[in-house]
Amino acid sequence: MIASSGFRLRLATPADAVEVGRLLEESYPALMASAYDEAALAPALSLMTKANPALLRSGTYYVAAAPAGLLVGCGGWTLEQPGTGAVEARVAHLRHFATHPDWTRRGVGRAIYRQCEAAARSAGVLALECYSSLNAEKFYAALGFARIREFDAELRPGVALRSVLMRREFIAGA
Ligand SMILES: CC(C)(COP(=O)(O)OP(=O)(O)OC[C@H]1O[C@@H](n2cnc3c(N)ncnc32)[C@H](O)[C@@H]1OP(=O)(O)O)[C@@H](O)C(=O)NCCC(=O)NCCS
Repeated sequence: MIASSGFRLRLATPADAVEVGRLLEESYPALMASAYDEAALAPALSLMTKANPALLRSGTYYVAAAPAGLLVGCGGWTLEQPGTGAVEARVAHLRHFATHPDWTRRGVGRAIYRQCEAAARSAGVLALECYSSLNAEKFYAALGFARIREFDAELRPGVALRSVLMRREFIAGA
């Protein structure tokens, strides 16, 4: 999996846990502060900036590595809905996307999304959904996602983050 623009995509593995955690800690607080106030963001960040072991071993989570090997992007998809684990036929969910603040707007997120879309469609998926942070809505819109509704995503009982449910449909065989 090679991308242009000086980074390389590969599947994540559990061995990436520390580096993915570092990337989330560098990306989320810096890039989400534009859309949330500190009081709303702080409790959510303490939960969101940890690498998810189930995603790392899923075979559907990817990382972008800079030439020196440093991880500069991550993201993936699952058939399970985040939080509930519910599965709906032919619908998949984008999960835990992040780009390092020094690497934004260089196509890292789009390249990871394209990988996700190709793999999900090969698996028969006909719609992708995501719980977008408020700051990431324009990114998902640029990828062809439509805004469905804004809601409070519960990360843990008592900890919620204002989010946007977004969805992109595919036409079978197209
Ligand atoms: C959202 C995020 C993953 C985008 O990553 P990225 O690598 O910068 O995205 P790309 O460079 O591939 O951008 C693709 C397109 O999305 C749109 N886009 C991306 N970031 C945008 C922004 N901040 N404002 C407006 N449009 C944006 C643009 O159309 C862009 O294309 P262009 O640069 O040619 O105009 C990154 O900003 C991030 O990590 N944010 C913090 C974490 C987060 O909120 N993650 C989402 C959790 S649901």
